[in-house]
Amino acid sequence: MASSNTVRAVAPVPGVREAWPRLDLIPHPPRRVPLLGDVLGTDRSRPLQDTVRRGSELGPIFRRKVLSFELVFVGGAELVADLSDESRFAKFVAPGIAALRPLAKDGLFTAHNHEPNWQLAHDVLAPGFSREAMAGYHRAMLDVADRLTGHWDTELAAGRPVDVPGDMTKLTLETIARTGFGHDFGSFERARPHPFVDAMVGYLSYAQRRTALPGPLAGLLGGRAADRRGERDLALLNDTVDEVVRARVADGRPGDGDLLDRMLETAHPDTGERLSLDNVRRQVITFLVAGHETTSGALSFALHYLSLHPEIAARAREEVDRVWGDVVSPGYEQVAKLRYVRRVLDESLRLWPTAPAFARVALEDTVLGGTHPMRRGAWALVVLPLLHRDPAVWGPEPERFDPDRFEAAAVRGRPAHVFKPFGTGARACIGRQFALHEATLVLGLLLRRYEFRPRPEYRLSVSERLTLMPEGLRLGLERRAPRPAPDEAVTAGR
Ligand code: HEM
Repeated sequence: MASSNTVRAVAPVPGVREAWPRLDLIPHPPRRVPLLGDVLGTDRSRPLQDTVRRGSELGPIFRRKVLSFELVFVGGAELVADLSDESRFAKFVAPGIAALRPLAKDGLFTAHNHEPNWQLAHDVLAPGFSREAMAGYHRAMLDVADRLTGHWDTELAAGRPVDVPGDMTKLTLETIARTGFGHDFGSFERARPHPFVDAMVGYLSYAQRRTALPGPLAGLLGGRAADRRGERDLALLNDTVDEVVRARVADGRPGDGDLLDRMLETAHPDTGERLSLDNVRRQVITFLVAGHETTSGALSFALHYLSLHPEIAARAREEVDRVWGDVVSPGYEQVAKLRYVRRVLDESLRLWPTAPAFARVALEDTVLGGTHPMRRGAWALVVLPLLHRDPAVWGPEPERFDPDRFEAAAVRGRPAHVFKPFGTGARACIGRQFALHEATLVLGLLLRRYEFRPRPEYRLSVSERLTLMPEGLRLGLERRAPRPAPDEAVTAGR
């Protein structure tokens, strides 16, 4: 298969003034401090939400500066649609992603467009996300979901609220590890998160701190201790992945055509080339990180909104009961039929796109939105929470949680490129269908089994570690009337 996704290479323009000849047309926060930049009133622990706040005051395109380092942000729908034009723009590995390069090097997510391993890995791995492959992962997804409900039943019996982000992270890590690499981290059997998760959270937070500030200053503020911790986390992540790969190679047995099999065994259909062992290591780490953190956040936000809106939860539950009926284990085909549950998920990803920004670089000298000249190599960050709240598209109450915004007719009535939680173009998320299938299945299973009770004192607080998560979200559970016993019920074909 010759890929049609060939992405052109382009070097970034070093200075924002050279990159954007009419920088004066792009507003910045009013109280700019000489030498320091836009530092007054900023929240360094939540840079994304800080940027969203600024953007809602400054308009569809704006810039922010720390010391000599200045970035251009775009949140308006028309400008994002223009940046989505693949003939003039492409993905840019912005500092936030570049900070993960020591970990993931030229793995799919962090690769520069011109690195040959991107195309090779993309072509080798894309079939791992086909419909057929997805149907093959369904059984493992159900098994992991069973472990979650087993754990939640225990918490419920003990009268304890459940730790939503913690448990969703266990679920999604186990799912990608099982389906992708035949590996079991035993997350639900542990009182504390698996050390891999601690190291990953530690490394993502460290990378975020390093990107919130320009290089030398980040080093100074973070200190040697933070660097040492970063190195320790990196080593643990590498060791864990090496163990997963070593076990498969030593075992000598294929893993049911999972992602690791594809990486180790599949040659490129045109060139016959294979991924090197070092690149396989980078891809495994990429999939373990990219494949669980974002889905875990998406599920957590959806559960938060379902708990706050009993009428929406009731409608979703009615759909699950109607579509799945008495079936104990829903089959692969029955997941995509949960249209309303899927809308709940989409609406959660609209308000809180868990990978909240991506960068686009100009492939040629061009004019953004007919107004802002950009040199070839100029780049901007698309801020998804702003795009997803643009009142010109989403109406006067963009903060209101309303899954009906994703009814087919409403979607058709909106312009293209206004909902981008999975990125855009050739470098958009390869795991989109995987995430949507997993999350819809799990939401369906949880809605069918439990009623969710929000804790009255909880106010949504969103933590940032490159991805977003509802911090400290706990929910009370009530068990719904039990489903029929397995021998009375029909088990769906898979
Ligand atoms: C709700 C869940 C998810 C969200 C919101 C999400 C979001 C994104 C976004 C926005 C990008 C583009 C980043 C950019 O342009 O710089 C991306 C790329 C990517 N995602 Fe996801 N993702 C999710 C789940 C997954 C899953 C489950 C996997 C793997 C099983 C995965 C693997 C990847 C990979 C490998 C890339 C890089 C693709 C490439 O450049 O070729 N993601 N994702």
